[in-house]
Amino acid sequence: MNISAIGAGYVGLSTATVFAELGNNVIVADISKEKINNLNNGVMPFFEPGLKELVIKNVKEKRLKFVDKNNYAIEHGDVIFICVGTPPKENWETELKYVENVAIEIAKNMTSYKVIVHKSTVPVETGDNIKKIINDNVKENINFDVVSNPEFLREGTAIKDTLEPDRIVIGADSDRAIDIMKKLYGPIKAPLIITDIRSAELIKHASNAFLATKISFINSVARICERSGADVENVAVGMGYDKRIAKDFLNAGIGYGGSCFPKDSQAFIKIAEKYGYDYKLLKATNEINEEQKQIFVKKIKDTLKNNDNKKVGILGLSFKPNTDDMRFAPSIYVIQELQKDGIKIKAYDPESMEKSKNILKDVEYCKNPYEASENTDALIILTEWNEFKELDFKRIKSLMNNPLIIDGRNIYNPDDMVKEGFRYISIGRKEVK
Ligand code: UGA
Repeated sequence: MNISAIGAGYVGLSTATVFAELGNNVIVADISKEKINNLNNGVMPFFEPGLKELVIKNVKEKRLKFVDKNNYAIEHGDVIFICVGTPPKENWETELKYVENVAIEIAKNMTSYKVIVHKSTVPVETGDNIKKIINDNVKENINFDVVSNPEFLREGTAIKDTLEPDRIVIGADSDRAIDIMKKLYGPIKAPLIITDIRSAELIKHASNAFLATKISFINSVARICERSGADVENVAVGMGYDKRIAKDFLNAGIGYGGSCFPKDSQAFIKIAEKYGYDYKLLKATNEINEEQKQIFVKKIKDTLKNNDNKKVGILGLSFKPNTDDMRFAPSIYVIQELQKDGIKIKAYDPESMEKSKNILKDVEYCKNPYEASENTDALIILTEWNEFKELDFKRIKSLMNNPLIIDGRNIYNPDDMVKEGFRYISIGRKEVK
């Protein structure tokens, strides 16, 4: 099939590349000439495991093309995916102008029947809005259908999540569009949920809100564990065996970050407000998430006692492993709060230091975890990259001023760390002395 994606971000690039890999002819458009030039030369706009290889392969085999003019993509695609950004406004409502502008462009440039699919995370009723915009701007009497096909991929596993999703949600009100979408997704083996457009839009926001709530739930349990001497890791395992609860997303830590949960949960509260509903549960989820970072900073400051002239090493800056994304990364808050008290910062992250340098100033960026440990009073884990799980702790201990590890992601076993000679403080687990 001829497919187009407008917007070469995480969603647009992953979707387009996977559909090309499945044999479709795909054009991706983005207004950034630089991004398009880079993509045509095999340079990705962000780090995502497996993406680069697949892009290069499909460009070479001529199934994937990048253009800097939306009208080429609009003309080409029988199915057009709208994958442009939906950033938060200052009051956390969703900024829809990019989606709306693309809808106008599609209306003005389409010359035959199109299935117009919105994949970006948008408030319920955006599909109706897109339909209206296109109807208002279309030149002749050209048929089209609007479909909501929310994306559930996670950064760091975007390609795998797109090729092997838990489910595919198609919100549509036309059999013609449903048939085309079914054919397009035919090669991907996953349950297909066909529903109306508004329900599809809500499935996305409700799913992210639920996952964010699950994280705040376990972080609340972690606080009770710390006070009662229980171990949140064991509590999570015991809970997770119940199929109704499920084990994923029960990792206590320093709270969720990234471009999705913080923004989507706030946006969902606003959407609820618009319909006259006070979404208390989700407000509490966000509040707990903010507190989680504050509690962690307090833990560091209390442990260091006198903060004057103290230096700490930070391992991990990105909001999660396998990405260089720094958007709403808890590391930003944690580091800035420590700096306010005069604590000096050394830091290492395998992928996100370039992006970090634009956000976090007065940080000594290091080449590896060992350099980041040298002459520090504490080593602080903020992202659970695999390479931090197996370190030479004898070497780390010999490099540090003081053998103290404060782990915001619970990646080490407390008994092992004590045996290695460290004071080890983590989340929701009592300190082994
Ligand atoms: C999230 C959802 O998981 C995807 O399904 C969704 O498509 C995406 O948002 C989106 O809306 O675009 P993502 O933000 O890439 O994906 O990353 P997650 O793996 O969900 O992690 C989000 C945050 O929660 C991270 O900061 C992570 O460290 C934190 N987290 C996750 C925890 O603190 N504990 C957990 O148990 C799981």
